[in-house]
Amino acid sequence: MIGIFDSGFGGLTTLKELLKYMPENDYIYLGDSARAPYGNRSMKTIIEYTEQCVDFLFSRGASIVLLACNTASSDALRFLQKKYATDEQNKKVLGVLIPAVEKALETSRYGRIGLVATRGTVEAKNYDIELAKRKHLFSSSEKKAQKEPTLSSQSCPLLVPLIEEGWIKKPETKSILKKYILPLKTHNIDTLILGCTHYPLLEKQFAKKMGKNCTIINSGKAQAEKFVLYLNNHPEIKKNLSSKKTIHFFTTDCPERFKHLGQKFLGRGIGEVEKVSF
Ligand code: DGL
Repeated sequence: MIGIFDSGFGGLTTLKELLKYMPENDYIYLGDSARAPYGNRSMKTIIEYTEQCVDFLFSRGASIVLLACNTASSDALRFLQKKYATDEQNKKVLGVLIPAVEKALETSRYGRIGLVATRGTVEAKNYDIELAKRKHLFSSSEKKAQKEPTLSSQSCPLLVPLIEEGWIKKPETKSILKKYILPLKTHNIDTLILGCTHYPLLEKQFAKKMGKNCTIINSGKAQAEKFVLYLNNHPEIKKNLSSKKTIHFFTTDCPERFKHLGQKFLGRGIGEVEKVSF
């Protein structure tokens, strides 16, 4: 089974993308809604919560876990990869930052990349670190391109609650989005990473405000695309993934709320949801 972890419902946008590429597989999803949002929490807390949730997914039969949550990937991925590195069952944990950065570098024409994310993700600076390690992936034939790609980041702490309230089309959300985007526009960004599970729900609004010369990268979509390539390069992992088209949903909060809100993120109805406590 493929395990997917998110702080709440947002990771369902990643599951939605995965199901497009790999509809046959079995999935187990855990959203830690009772303790969400993670975006403004300390790194220590995020590591502690993410570890509990990932342990749970492995204990329920996942053979590989994807951290759909950008904040958890940013703060806890390295810790978890070290933790499981010596595991006999060869448990694997993959994050969302590297796929998003790779996709942005492959896409960008001028090397002026932007990031919008939670405060936790932006402040951890791991997007900057992963981008610096992979700058060789950027090759542009454009005359105006910079030699080195750059990353301009903007945290958008008000967007997650607005999206969860369903305020996607409200004028208040539009004007807050405009304020967040303004500094990025001064940097003439040509590629914008949506570095938060919730932001794909505002993808059209981001695209409209950034203008037609800016390409939007949905980090969950990039994670799904790169995961398919990863499995092709790792047939030993791929062959252990079961494929009976099942999806098990778990939440740490109210299952009814998860079902209700989750369907907006997944883009389809959600069956049974089980509650789990830590
Ligand atoms: N899932 C989080 C992320 O992608 C957003 C919600 C939260 O702050 O918990 O960063």
